[in-house]
Amino acid sequence: MAVTINTLRDFKARGEAFSALTAYDATFSQVVSSAGVDVMLIGDSLGMVLQGHDSTLPVTMADMCYHTRAVAKGNQGALIMADMPFMSYGTVATALENAAALMRAGAQMVKLEGTDWMADTITALSERGIPVCAHLGLTPQFVNKFGGYKVQGREEKRAQEMIDHACQLEAAGADVILLECVPRSLAARITQAVAAPVIGIGAGSDTDGQVLVLHDMLGITPGRRPRFVKDFLAGNESIPAAIGAYVKAVKDRTFPGEEHTFKA
Ligand code: KIV
Repeated sequence: MAVTINTLRDFKARGEAFSALTAYDATFSQVVSSAGVDVMLIGDSLGMVLQGHDSTLPVTMADMCYHTRAVAKGNQGALIMADMPFMSYGTVATALENAAALMRAGAQMVKLEGTDWMADTITALSERGIPVCAHLGLTPQFVNKFGGYKVQGREEKRAQEMIDHACQLEAAGADVILLECVPRSLAARITQAVAAPVIGIGAGSDTDGQVLVLHDMLGITPGRRPRFVKDFLAGNESIPAAIGAYVKAVKDRTFPGEEHTFKA
């Protein structure tokens, strides 16, 4: 049966963890969704893993629509979430136009990076039938404001701010919250504070779901592996087996382990 936003809500209600992975093309979409991954994210990480840029900023709406169409073709029942790229939601009007383009390309939810300033945009999208995931914590489109890819919310003042932002964005209409690179204890507090399902990456094992970049969890991303990533291809004989092992590890909460987690 196809995964919908209600499926994710039911997972949260039952305390059952769900899995998400990025996918960027039809073949991997078929492999990832057949392996039982619940959510496929066409991440703007494609700017780094497919296009070779050193950030996600160069990714365009044309890129995102192209890859979303491809993933939609291969999908075997996962919920399809597509990233809105840098500056594609700078105003409410541009957000509506660009989110509609992603939905027409096959997305079932869009993801935006930002904090309380996004509330009006999220309300406008939600009221018009576009489900939204609000991405908080280390939001890669803000790398130049952060001065690098750094864990966010370590100080109590910032942690409390992030909890408030998650609650405000949920009240504005966000259906899902995604937390990237935050201490495990903060992710647990946010997961408790909101009714919406919370997906984590580098946020510990207490969130409702987990997401990783496909190329990272297959161990083929060049360079140093981030702390929160595990190479699931190591010890598995094929890509479908590696993805199956990831799904199982997320479901039984053996991934992420303490070694993949940040402390406050
Ligand atoms: O673009 C992406 O792949 C993402 C994940 C890191 C969550 O936003």
